[in-house]
Amino acid sequence: MIAVDGPAASGKGTIARALAGHFDLPHMDTGLLYRAVALNLWRWGGDPTSEFEALRACDDLGFDPSDEELRSEPVSRIASRVSAYPSIRAALLDRQRDFARQQGGAVLDGRDIGTVIAPQAEAKLFVTATPQVRAQRRFAELKRLGLDVHYQDVLADIHARDERDSNRSAAPLLPAPDAQILDTSEMTIEAAIERAIALVEARAELTR
Ligand code: CDP
Repeated sequence: MIAVDGPAASGKGTIARALAGHFDLPHMDTGLLYRAVALNLWRWGGDPTSEFEALRACDDLGFDPSDEELRSEPVSRIASRVSAYPSIRAALLDRQRDFARQQGGAVLDGRDIGTVIAPQAEAKLFVTATPQVRAQRRFAELKRLGLDVHYQDVLADIHARDERDSNRSAAPLLPAPDAQILDTSEMTIEAAIERAIALVEARAELTR
């Protein structure tokens, strides 16, 4: 089982998908679960500052991963808020643990995979990059989608999200003590993927 954690726009999703393809393992993007709760809440007009209302949005959590609204700005903002509530994290726990423990292994990416969801993971990567590099990547991605965005706003948003991820008391964003840090600030995505595969293979050798 491979755990991939890291901050917003670090490239962890791309790396996790590539690892899943390379090792032929099923992949779960756990951020999508928090986004699905946020989208539910948003559609009902629920209040993200109410943990109780946010918890109700976890009921019957069916969602279509290709739904573009899951990745929209308002939903991202609400997801960042609701993911700080301990009851929301608890409600989403079993689904993630079951996926992580399936026969044959899996790749999960998120914020607390190596620390909370699957401390038993054979390989743990903590994918990171400087806030400036992450903002630059997110900015380029939004521009490609045809959105009218400003780099400074994207950077401010990355800082705000890091702040919330790191300072929440429930599962704050921290590398597991046995995680391997992969700083992609000065790497192309291809180089980062290659390095990630090498790190996982080295760890698998050790645990064999
Ligand atoms: O990386 P990015 O912030 O763009 O998005 P994501 O990985 O899809 O995560 C969406 C939101 O859910 C973020 O605000 C994360 O803080 C939160 N999240 C979390 O708390 N725990 C996870 N295992 C995954 C995501």
